Amino acid sequence: MAQQIYKGNLLSSLSYDELKIIENGYIVVKDGIISDVYEKLPAEYNNEKITDYGDRLIIPAFSDLHMHAPQFAQRGIGMDRLLMDWLNDYTFPQEANFKDLAYASKIYARLIREFLRHGSFHLSLFTTIHYEACDLLFKMLEDSGLYAYTGLVNMDMNSPDYYVDDTNVSLEKTERFIVEHQYSQRVRPILTPRFAPTCSAKLMKGLGELALKYDLGVQTHLVESKAEAAWAKELYPDCASDGEIYEKYGLLQGSGPKIFAHVIFPTPTEERILKQYDGYAVHCPDATSNIIAGIMPLSKLHDNGINITIGSDVGGGHFLAIYRQIARAAQISKMKEFYEEDYSKIELKNAFYMATAASEKIFPHSGKLEKGYRFDALVIENMLDKEYERPIADALERFCYIGDDRNIFARFIDGRLIDPDAVYEMICKK
Ligand code: GUN
Ligand code: FE
Repeated sequence: MAQQIYKGNLLSSLSYDELKIIENGYIVVKDGIISDVYEKLPAEYNNEKITDYGDRLIIPAFSDLHMHAPQFAQRGIGMDRLLMDWLNDYTFPQEANFKDLAYASKIYARLIREFLRHGSFHLSLFTTIHYEACDLLFKMLEDSGLYAYTGLVNMDMNSPDYYVDDTNVSLEKTERFIVEHQYSQRVRPILTPRFAPTCSAKLMKGLGELALKYDLGVQTHLVESKAEAAWAKELYPDCASDGEIYEKYGLLQGSGPKIFAHVIFPTPTEERILKQYDGYAVHCPDATSNIIAGIMPLSKLHDNGINITIGSDVGGGHFLAIYRQIARAAQISKMKEFYEEDYSKIELKNAFYMATAASEKIFPHSGKLEKGYRFDALVIENMLDKEYERPIADALERFCYIGDDRNIFARFIDGRLIDPDAVYEMICKK
């Protein structure tokens, strides 16, 4: 691959509050890694070929830290339900279809193409309870070039009889999945108990043992609704709250990432656990408005030092594009501020950070356009009108609010130019 030099308007987060902008800047990429970023190209590169993207933006690719791969099939459907009705009426019956590998293969190939189209290259994905379909998704992800964590979903109670596992079967399948994939690099296994209400204490204990044995992380849903949080407490009277279940049963013992979706009604216990275990609270703005009807106390969690990232939560969320979730995060934070006195809204640059650089510990060397980071990046075009001169940051804001995949002119993973349709053809043929 050797060396490439790209010129364009560079936007990348330095921190939650700081967006670094270099107008007409240069990125030098060597073997997929950014070797330097310049405002002015040093003379040593004078005779090198430069790919000039003109007034287009170059930004880091997005991370989607909470998404249900099988629910891609049902996105935008059943959106008039709330959580438990949505699960029972739409989601469980649909996810049950993934016992059919031909169905799974079609949906998963399309999903991967869509991630590539929208520039979400670092992922944490739920699957279903079906070993073969989970294994298939894992292999497709590896072939696609995406970076991901994914796990077989555990549920052994409070689930319909057509979509539930015996406790030991669930644990055996999970261990088999881990053993099969434990040495993979780009795609990694992660424990995936659906949420406390569908997981027995015996199952949680078994998963805790696997966390220790294979040094794994965990992803789940945490205090996502008042009803769910209350139900979890009722089912686990030995635990002070939802979060403590994962701690007490040993699921936080591994060194892998601890990823908690929603965290809408955190008690001091959830906050302690998130901090103590360097966990991630994943804000999913669309899902929050569609099936959950509560908004994460984002600014408060951030002020308390908790890592916050963004997830599409498709199919609870209806649209896969993370740039739209960035806009939605800013939008709904204003509503929360309006209705709740002690809450302050966030800005677009805060949400952009959460969707990019905030997950760099989970996906090392990604999320920023800085020396030593992988060139996992997007080139964005046509977001400003020539007649109406605006600062570069406005082009990013407009992309998040009204852009779509047609405005993504080029996509890079590891410095390699990606064609979503070609990747789709490749994984379909395998
Ligand atoms: N809680 C349990 N299962 C689910 C799910 O599939 N989606 C969401 N958003 N919440 C859940
Ligand atoms: Fe979810």
